[in-house]
Amino acid sequence: MKQISLTTNFTVFSSIDELNSNDRELMTQALQFRKQAYAPYSKFQVGVALLLDNGEVIKGTNQENAAYPSGLCAERVAIFYAGANYPDAKVEKIFISASPIDRDLDKPIPPCGACRQSIAEYEIKQESSIEVFFMGAKGEIIKSDSLKDLLPLLFDKKYL
Ligand code: THU
Repeated sequence: MKQISLTTNFTVFSSIDELNSNDRELMTQALQFRKQAYAPYSKFQVGVALLLDNGEVIKGTNQENAAYPSGLCAERVAIFYAGANYPDAKVEKIFISASPIDRDLDKPIPPCGACRQSIAEYEIKQESSIEVFFMGAKGEIIKSDSLKDLLPLLFDKKYL
């Protein structure tokens, strides 16, 4: 028997003002997109701005459904749209803002496990890291340089 230890590094920004101007603009878009989420059941809105290497910014918001499991998270709405419409582009960065409709969360809200797995697939496909920035409605922002940090021991094509 042996134990392994994995180290994960994140950058924490105290507020959106600490981001560089390009990243601040993209997080500002995620904050705006969040308001357009279709989340009548959970009333928890998520907005995503996804930057491609061709300069396109893809919008994602969570899309809920009366048949609850049929809905989809904002991150997957965005990354699947990117994969479908820009199959040859690389995803450079993903900006996420999440908060309940009736109050402004001030804690960074990380993407769920299924979204991490979905985003990881594209990181492996494109052979370059995807930066993920996430926040609530205000306050601190956490940045992960790669999905490998958000999802260690991920399942990928090498196991198939
Ligand atoms: N949600 C996302 O859009 N992204 C996540 O990473 C976690 C959860 C959505 C799904 C659902 O519409 C609502 O937030 C509450 O779970």
